[in-house]
Amino acid sequence: MKTKANDFNLISKRFLEEYSKNQQPIRVNFKEMVDHIKFQDRATHSIHIYPAKLLPNIPYFFLNNDFFVKDNEFVLDPFSGSGTVLLESNLAGKNSYGCDSNPLARLISKVKTSTYNISILKNIINTLKMEIQNTTVDSNDKFPDVVNIDYWFLPNIKLQLHAILKAIKTISDDNYRDFFILCFSNCVKKVSLADSRISVPVKAKLNRETNNLHPFFDESKSKLKRLEDLDVFLKFTEIVYDNIKRFENKVKINSKSQSTKIISDDARKIGIPDESVDLIISSPPYAGAQKYIRACSLNLGWTELSSKDNLRILDKKNIGRENYSKADYLTLKVTDIVEADLLLTEIYKINPLRAHIAANYLLEMKQAIIEASRVLKKGKYFILIAANNQVCGREFKTQEYLRMIAEDAGLKTVCRLVDDIKSYGLMTKRNKTASVITCEWVLILKKE
Ligand SMILES: C[S@@+](CC[C@H](N)C(=O)[O-])C[C@H]1O[C@@H](n2cnc3c(N)ncnc32)[C@H](O)[C@@H]1O
Repeated sequence: MKTKANDFNLISKRFLEEYSKNQQPIRVNFKEMVDHIKFQDRATHSIHIYPAKLLPNIPYFFLNNDFFVKDNEFVLDPFSGSGTVLLESNLAGKNSYGCDSNPLARLISKVKTSTYNISILKNIINTLKMEIQNTTVDSNDKFPDVVNIDYWFLPNIKLQLHAILKAIKTISDDNYRDFFILCFSNCVKKVSLADSRISVPVKAKLNRETNNLHPFFDESKSKLKRLEDLDVFLKFTEIVYDNIKRFENKVKINSKSQSTKIISDDARKIGIPDESVDLIISSPPYAGAQKYIRACSLNLGWTELSSKDNLRILDKKNIGRENYSKADYLTLKVTDIVEADLLLTEIYKINPLRAHIAANYLLEMKQAIIEASRVLKKGKYFILIAANNQVCGREFKTQEYLRMIAEDAGLKTVCRLVDDIKSYGLMTKRNKTASVITCEWVLILKKE
């Protein structure tokens, strides 16, 4: 039986009542609760790939639900990534604020929630075609500062990408230029030698005898063949038209343009007044589970959002990062979460770096949660979506530690929902010390 959006209010009240009686987590299935929408095709959700996107069914449930938020109120996602919460907020008639330390994430969110005149977009793509025909590029050009550009891109692809980029840069309107830069970014990884199944760039392996046995060998070989004579502009145009259709679809769902602003590049410094938002929904990063900057390094380089050298600076802002020098972990930091400190002291003896990554993660998340609590209005809700993971083979109860931090920051747990979603988009297999996340916890916290 389909659940209607206006039933969500009643369901939520029941969840909160049940939890207040026994304080026990409630098993749910968001895909079943919100099963009347095909999110893959909804509005602009799929305009660009991004690691560890949030299941849109979750924000949909809370946003189309006046128990949590009313029309025209303000929703914040301090770790907004590709803007899933921001877009769903707009579609539900709410204004939204986002923050993210990754410039590509900020661009995706900005474009995803913008409105465009479709005829102008179509005119621009025609103009770009002519512009490219008049653009000359050769191998002596100054190419964007992309990490190992010649390793990841065949020479013919590199030249074609550069011609497209040069043409896009001639678009004078910032907003429209951003749309085309984003389509270009989406094209970059598809025409690179990076394996598209893996979030961080890993070269599709070829040429070595043994790799004939590799399960993806045939696929990689045919990709290389395709790339050798690929018309990149044609590929780019396909992406542009697919995205134009998404914007046409978005207008049909909600033609009113609620505002979205990307207000900060750091969840620890949101920069808006105290008690100014009505609802927070967020799925924060995990300790060592996703390398957001590395995963996007080719896109960041080609779109000129970051030079090679700047990638390290961006990574330093990233909560949950893994790159530290030995001097950083000569001693173990104390998080003041008793259970976590006991576990991390044990882990520190075996692997001091892993213990430091997890400890520093909790300390930085504490700053972010205190900041989120500061900007939330009294009596309003913070929906925090998190999971547990493993550090050096031990269970690290991330969601539980974040909940304890939130309680210390003045947020009361009024309900805990557990959804048995199998890991989507989290490619952790390569990291032996972090394991695949299988259960998602949705913590409903209230500012008292
Ligand atoms: C799990 S992802 C969020 C995904 C998002 N909900 C979506 O659907 O695309 C976590 C995000 O936190 C961001 N992040 C990491 N450290 C941050 C910081 N200090 N401030 C803001 N964002 C940060 C990462 O760049 C990443 O985009």
